[in-house]
Amino acid sequence: MSAAETADRLHVEPAGAIVGELVPPGDKSVSHRSVLIGGLAEGPVAVTGFGANEDTLASVAAMQSMGVRIEPQDEGITALLVHGVGLRGLRDPVDPIDVRNAGTLLRLLPGLLAGQPEGRYTLDGDASIRRRPVDRIALPLGRMGAAITSTDGCAPLTVEGGHPLAGITYELPVASAQVKSCLLLAGLLAEGETTVVEPLATRDHTERMLRAAGARVQRHPGAVTVRPATGLRLQEIEVPGDISSAAFFIVAATLVPESHLFIRGVGVNPGRAGVLTVLERMGARIGLFNRRTTAAGEPIADLEIRATELIATEVEPEIVPSLIDELPLIALAASRARGVTVVRGADDLRKKESDRIATVADALTAVGAHLTATDDGWELRGVPARLRGGTVDPHGDHRIAMMGAIAGLYSEQGVRVRDPACIDVSFPGFRDILRALEAAVAERE
Ligand code: S3P
Repeated sequence: MSAAETADRLHVEPAGAIVGELVPPGDKSVSHRSVLIGGLAEGPVAVTGFGANEDTLASVAAMQSMGVRIEPQDEGITALLVHGVGLRGLRDPVDPIDVRNAGTLLRLLPGLLAGQPEGRYTLDGDASIRRRPVDRIALPLGRMGAAITSTDGCAPLTVEGGHPLAGITYELPVASAQVKSCLLLAGLLAEGETTVVEPLATRDHTERMLRAAGARVQRHPGAVTVRPATGLRLQEIEVPGDISSAAFFIVAATLVPESHLFIRGVGVNPGRAGVLTVLERMGARIGLFNRRTTAAGEPIADLEIRATELIATEVEPEIVPSLIDELPLIALAASRARGVTVVRGADDLRKKESDRIATVADALTAVGAHLTATDDGWELRGVPARLRGGTVDPHGDHRIAMMGAIAGLYSEQGVRVRDPACIDVSFPGFRDILRALEAAVAERE
């Protein structure tokens, strides 16, 4: 295996076997929440395992611009001291808040801002962010009493403080943890109870962190209720390893024959672990051990993955929210699994960093897979053999770029990924891990 890179291209050669051990970066969803929720706590919060990447650093910069002191404790920014300013202590920022490429920041932060006693906050981001819908938060926040305006349903988005919020019951039209979290955060600052009804269960990192901070959050079947809070008390937040980042190497080690990989400290919150469930259904050999739960209630485990041949499966709408970001990888795995795999109910993929139904279909077709995009997923005809290889254009989408690189490991001719810089949006260490695994291969030969 070899991963060579120039500024505009990453070239990944076919791999022998992937053997060794790795530690993924801190979970992106939990890292965002650690600075957003930590920033509103009473006093300092020690964050460990923080996953520093372009997205989460945009959250750090946003909170700093509103008066939250955040001090990195090490060079890799894996530990932070977040000096919370209290629930209503954010300051009007001088400049518009630049969320860069971070959809989670774009959707969660307005929930906190809407309940501030004063200030006028504008959120904007890159070209991809300006295409991502924010009406899904603007509408319910408006119903709570927030003053929020968007630009044709997208960023730039402006939220004004000083408008009292009232709790509502809101039925999410689309299963979205970002929208749910936004409303729960606004609910902390509202008068009365706020209930979010979910069509399907989505990741519950916000609920777990808020509960650990003393907020009154109650789960009912299909819904969650938050009551107004007087203050959040959190001393520390341990961020689990990112299962979405680990998933690239889980799929690599499953596909490449003779592989045997350990991945340490992975967050296995059931709302995120759908990738393990579906891969196991396809025959993958994934062991979980050393299970524990962090003080903030996030389950963590070490994973052991051995290569195996896969069989096709059906990915049904109910499981989609628990693996929404891993569906490109499931598509890659399914393209190497014997039989026809159908993925349904994933139409929200069209509104991610790219239209992922289209970009996955283009990328996998370009490297020799057989699949058709449908309105809400794909139909994939799997062949249990290496892909041909070729060139992948990620369209600026980090997860498509990394999926292309992993496809290269299980190809005949290698894969070239164009403009790989977008990988830094979520996983700046991705290429180092590829190279380290390459070194492990070289040592054994
Ligand atoms: C996220 C929720 C998901 C996911 C995104 C992170 C979160 O989005 O795709 O990468 O941190 O809450 P939706 O909730 O909009 O599906």
